[in-house]
Amino acid sequence: MKAIVYHRYGAPDVVSLAEVPKPVPRDNEVLIRILATTVTTGDWRARSLKMPVGFGVLGRLVFGLFGPRQPILGTELAGIVEAVGRSVTRFSVGDAVFAFPGGAFGSHAEYRTMPEDGMIAHKPANLSFEEAAALSFGGTTVLGPLRDTVRIKAGDRVLVVGASGGVGTAAVQIAKHLGADVTGVCSTANVALVRSIGASRVIDYTVEDFATCGDNWDVIVDTSGTAPFPRCERALRPGGRLVVILGSLAQVAGIGRPSKASGKHVIAGVPKILPEHLRTLAEMAEAGAYRPVIDRVYPLAHAAEAHAYVDTGRKRGNVILTVASR
Ligand SMILES: NC(=O)c1ccc[n+]([C@@H]2O[C@H](COP(=O)([O-])OP(=O)(O)OC[C@H]3O[C@@H](n4cnc5c(N)ncnc54)[C@H](OP(=O)(O)O)[C@@H]3O)[C@@H](O)[C@H]2O)c1
Repeated sequence: MKAIVYHRYGAPDVVSLAEVPKPVPRDNEVLIRILATTVTTGDWRARSLKMPVGFGVLGRLVFGLFGPRQPILGTELAGIVEAVGRSVTRFSVGDAVFAFPGGAFGSHAEYRTMPEDGMIAHKPANLSFEEAAALSFGGTTVLGPLRDTVRIKAGDRVLVVGASGGVGTAAVQIAKHLGADVTGVCSTANVALVRSIGASRVIDYTVEDFATCGDNWDVIVDTSGTAPFPRCERALRPGGRLVVILGSLAQVAGIGRPSKASGKHVIAGVPKILPEHLRTLAEMAEAGAYRPVIDRVYPLAHAAEAHAYVDTGRKRGNVILTVASR
């Protein structure tokens, strides 16, 4: 089968099209013919080894000490079940599905296997395969923290910093679905986009600083790494929580966090992701509450161009690779 592979860390041109063996499903696995996948900031980090401040060594430990352990990137996909293992009961040949191998990658290819009880779910009928491919990366990053850890409730005021990116566009929609009144922070070019996905107010960070504007929020979600706790402290209401999606090692380790007496909390670290999260995201999509934002679409063979665009750090929502048509 065709796949996009890389064998050394570096710039976008380290990825290239290659012929690799087609996987064979085990008894408990489904074989998916991939129609669409994405290039995410997860792919960017695994390809470039550019890590948040303090996490440099961890990058090589996670992705491979002397070179990439997994030569095929791609954290998420959507496609059609082509074959099922002998013990599979939840999926049948011909089912439309989406899946999130996440840090196991392997989606920038014509085929991938997934265990039937893993991160795979039926595709929402009202989404295209391109949209379904983009349901998981941003959605799973914020669903658990916002719904189960922070427990957003109706009427909470939520600020999403970096509201126009892959994670931010998911955070705006999911927070709103949970009942929050959402403010988004982004650059001028993305104000209309962020408003269109449900933010009742948008702060253009090139003209106004959320931290000093005098307003305050119950929850601040930082996907941009620009809102460490000391900067947010006054913008958090009493009992407020800062959810750190992108932060330095020092931040994640707790340096600069609030004292217990302040009643404010910082939530950081890699969120726990479960198959139930995919089913919930699919239900939200079917109900019209969550629709992945698609920015650019590239054919699989142009993956290096897609990587170069993701590297800019300025994408709006998600970048898609089309692999095949139905
Ligand atoms: N903790 C986790 O488990 C986890 C999971 C997924 C991702 N992440 C990390 O989260 C980060 C964001 O991921 P992503 O996929 O959403 O990235 P992305 O799609 O590239 O979006 C980044 C966004 O940041 C915005 N931005 C840049 N400078 C800003 C500023 N000064 N203030 C506010 N917003 C600013 C950009 O919007 P404008 O163009 O409008 O400025 C852009 O839309 C990445 O570093 C990624 O590694 C962490």
